[in-house]
Amino acid sequence: MIADGNGSIALNGHVFNGAKNSVVAEDLVLLREPPCQEQICIRPCKTSDHGSIQRLCCETGFLGRPVDPMFHDHDLFAELFTRPYLDYEPGWSMVAEANGRIVGYLLGSVSRYFDWLQLWCGFQTASKMGFRFATGRYANHARSRKFVRWLFTAGMKEQPKHPDGAAHLHLDIDARYRGRGIGRKLWETYEQRLRGVGIERCYGAFFSHPGRRPESAYARFGFTVFDRRRTTMFEPDIPHPVEVVCVCKNL
Ligand SMILES: CC(C)(COP(=O)(O)OP(=O)(O)OC[C@H]1O[C@@H](n2cnc3c(N)ncnc32)[C@H](O)[C@@H]1OP(=O)(O)O)[C@@H](O)C(=O)NCCC(=O)NCCS
Repeated sequence: MIADGNGSIALNGHVFNGAKNSVVAEDLVLLREPPCQEQICIRPCKTSDHGSIQRLCCETGFLGRPVDPMFHDHDLFAELFTRPYLDYEPGWSMVAEANGRIVGYLLGSVSRYFDWLQLWCGFQTASKMGFRFATGRYANHARSRKFVRWLFTAGMKEQPKHPDGAAHLHLDIDARYRGRGIGRKLWETYEQRLRGVGIERCYGAFFSHPGRRPESAYARFGFTVFDRRRTTMFEPDIPHPVEVVCVCKNL
């Protein structure tokens, strides 16, 4: 459990009880990790965080591990998964910071046009990948070329259904900081903001396979599985079936 060793944290004139599930502020949340007294701050995302978010996206992009064995082009991988949120609705994103370093993020969207934004951004990024492919940028890495081919031929088809009229989230925690309550605190802060503007449903999607089932963690936040679809994105590297799972929560 994450809480201040002294039971409470004073910040910006507020006093936050250190008890689990109660540390929520409009703009900033401070957490402490008892064993090393490392302070973790949950705060709104700033433009200067975008590079760190994109780095973390690439460090976890291959089923929670670094994306390099699958795709060498960090810039475009991160752009594909973060740009629709960071360019169009940066105000709905938050980061978890430990000792000045970003160790987790929640990228959010409440736009009813999010699907279109994702499609438009994806089209632009895929076009850049196609250009780099054609001009030899991936010539020395067959797996990167395979990833680009997958994106063009199967990327869209392998997406699960998702609920209409719902907010969206993309959550990611540095491997060294998982299981410490950071994901929960990011979600609870986001959920409170969604409720505050009257949003009634939220969904997220992630990769799942035997031995790594993020839906178990999301179930603890109150999400249920909405749809799941098999993906070939990680073939042949992962010998067992991988699915894209969409989870949803009524707020
Ligand atoms: C899935 C993920 C977001 C969860 O964040 P986290 O900070 O590790 O989770 P927390 O420590 O806040 O735990 C939240 C709850 O889930 C449970 N949980 C965490 N990891 C779990 C796991 N692997 N299996 C089952 N339950 C898990 C915890 O017990 C906790 O429950 P509780 O608070 O009711 O006791 C994070 O581990 C992660 O980024 N994983 C890799 C990338 C990924 O899968 N991202 C999802 C793509 S959207």
